[in-house]
Amino acid sequence: MRVHVADHPLITHKLTVLRDERTPSPVFRALTEELVTLLAYEATRNVRTTEVTVRTPVSEAVGLSIAAPRPLVVPILRAGLGMLEGMVKLVPTAEVGFLGMVRDEETLQPTTYAERLPDDLSNRQCFILDPMLATGGSLGAAIEFLFQRGAVDVTAVCLIAAPEGIEAVRKMTEGREVTVVVGALDEKLNERGYIVPGLGDAGDRLYGLV
Ligand code: PRP
Ligand code: URA
Repeated sequence: MRVHVADHPLITHKLTVLRDERTPSPVFRALTEELVTLLAYEATRNVRTTEVTVRTPVSEAVGLSIAAPRPLVVPILRAGLGMLEGMVKLVPTAEVGFLGMVRDEETLQPTTYAERLPDDLSNRQCFILDPMLATGGSLGAAIEFLFQRGAVDVTAVCLIAAPEGIEAVRKMTEGREVTVVVGALDEKLNERGYIVPGLGDAGDRLYGLV
């Protein structure tokens, strides 16, 4: 598994505002979208392309076009939904599938409560969106789900990760083609499985308490 920490000053600046407990939901949502666009730039570095030729007003130009089959973007509901617009803005031709997962706050185990994905992901490049990589349980299960359907490589885009979660996902995905692109690698998890310093509960901060 490759891990890329995209510690660009613009990303760190926006993440700092996101972390601030005083940042209200509308600003939090706008910043999340902006951050994803910046992270997506790195996450799509190896997107498959094919060579194409176009005619400019002056001559022919050889360029690149995103190859078929189209990339599949998979936000993990609920919090991953806050990242979707930023990603599809950058890759408008991508298809979008959905995975609904929730972590039990006592056991920290994830369960999948919704799934809307193509049955066959053979030969597909997939991009998972989830702001928080904490214990890694949710992301590890989501990645396995996509490989079971035939995906060939999976890139996860996360805003903040804990070292414990990165290691857990690394173990769960051994031998798989997996990349994690993250805006910040934080210090640790606390006893409740929250990332420290983190930003709290991403879903609640995006959409309010449930
Ligand atoms: C959060 C977050 C991740 C998961 C990370 O979702 O968006 O999906 O927790 O934790 P893990 O790495 O320990 O699995 P949550 O379960 O709170 O659901 P929500 O998005 O509906 O708020
Ligand atoms: N889920 C979140 O939203 N935040 C954390 O810190 C851990 C899991």
